[in-house]
Amino acid sequence: MGRSICFLVFLIAFGLLGGCDASVLLDSTPNNPAEKEAVPNLSLAGFDVIDEVKAQLEQTCPGVVSCADIVALTARDSVSYQFKRSMWEVLTGRRDGTISRESEALANIPSPFLNFTSLKQSFANKTLTVQDLVVLTGGHTIGVGHCEFFSNRLYNFTGKNDEDPSLNPTYAAFLKTKCPNLSDNTTTVEMDPGSSLSFDAHYYYNLKLNQGLFQSDAALLTDADASNLATELQDTTKFFTEFAQSMVRMGAIQVLTGTEGQIRKNCSVVNS
Ligand code: HEM
Ligand SMILES: *[C@@H]1O[C@H](CO)[C@@H](O)[C@H](O)[C@H]1NC(C)=O
Ligand SMILES: *[C@@H]1O[C@H](CO)[C@@H](O)[C@H](O)[C@H]1NC(C)=O
Ligand SMILES: *[C@@H]1O[C@H](CO)[C@@H](O)[C@H](O)[C@H]1NC(C)=O
Ligand SMILES: *[C@@H]1O[C@H](CO)[C@@H](O)[C@H](O)[C@H]1NC(C)=O
Ligand SMILES: *[C@@H]1O[C@H](CO)[C@@H](O)[C@H](O)[C@H]1NC(C)=O
Ligand SMILES: *[C@@H]1O[C@H](CO)[C@@H](O)[C@H](O)[C@H]1NC(C)=O
Ligand SMILES: *[C@@H]1O[C@H](CO)[C@@H](O)[C@H](O)[C@H]1NC(C)=O
Repeated sequence: MGRSICFLVFLIAFGLLGGCDASVLLDSTPNNPAEKEAVPNLSLAGFDVIDEVKAQLEQTCPGVVSCADIVALTARDSVSYQFKRSMWEVLTGRRDGTISRESEALANIPSPFLNFTSLKQSFANKTLTVQDLVVLTGGHTIGVGHCEFFSNRLYNFTGKNDEDPSLNPTYAAFLKTKCPNLSDNTTTVEMDPGSSLSFDAHYYYNLKLNQGLFQSDAALLTDADASNLATELQDTTKFFTEFAQSMVRMGAIQVLTGTEGQIRKNCSVVNS
């Protein structure tokens, strides 16, 4: 997996994991398990990249660029890389938080098993709208998901060894070949089959064919407005425009500025 793709997972952490103060980057200390421990395993490679960027910046320009800004900029660049131009403007000046607790991270990560009502609530709690929800979930145009996050839809949806009726049966049969049983927690599957390395509007095309991988993806079709918006977002130009706007909004959640927080020297640890 290319590095630029690994960056992308930060988008989840970035907006939805307790705000844009880089608290997600902190390592655990013995009596304080950090948010990092709760982040999906695959994103870990991205942490190394953030640390490398930070190390280079500290060499040439110490104490100026916060880890929170680095995350915001790399999220933008990971999407922009493919297009060789900047896809949106990132306001900088964020400062880094000084506390990180696993329990908060867990409370803030939206689960892939959520229904539309709960997704809407978790976004609203971050001042994000249903529009932001539908647009930002388009981030699933890139990357993979582990079987454990959707195999209930294949084998035991309501506890009667049944399949999720909202899942395309042909796609379900394909997924069963990838995830042979409910206890497979190592296999990963593309979230946007056929186009999972490319940032494009193809996610919405698959979604509309009832091929959204997670229940949280499929849930977007259970609300009339959200479903209509998903149809409109199949248009590439519209998706890119809206994604840029929602990313800017997400990048403004719970930001620390001025003299709040600190500029960390090392993104993994609070300054001593
Ligand atoms: C709506 C709420 C969301 C839920 C419930 C959700 C859930 C998930 C889950 C369960 C995974 C798979 C993790 C794994 O198996 O290791 C995943 C991966 C991913 N998500 Fe989301 N997500 C949400 C929103 C977002 C948003 C807003 C973005 C970006 C704007 C995003 C971008 C990604 C990317 C890029 C990956 C792939 C990571 C990789 O391949 O390593 N997700 N998401
Ligand atoms: C993710 O977990 C797997 C198995 O638990 C492990 O082999 C792999 O090294 C982990 N990935 C990262 C980036 O730490
Ligand atoms: C959505 O999930 C919540 C929490 O599990 C539940 O209370 C609610 O009844 C569900 N809503 C619908 C429409 O299924
Ligand atoms: C809403 O967010 C706050 C922090 O911003 C958090 O403490 C609270 O638990 C969240 N509530 C829900 C329902 O997610
Ligand atoms: C399916 O779900 C039911 C109800 O939760 C549970 O009792 C049963 O053990 C599950 N089946 C498997 C194969 O895990
Ligand atoms: C489930 O599938 C995985 C992956 O193929 C395999 O390693 C494991 O032995 C299977 N477990 C059971 C209980 O069949
Ligand atoms: C995956 O499942 C195996 C067998 O059920 C279990 O021993 C292991 O702890 C699980 N790993 C994770 C990362 O959940
Ligand atoms: C940052 O802190 C971590 C955790 O203490 C440490 O492993 C790492 O070497 C540090 N990085 C730099 C560049 O000092």
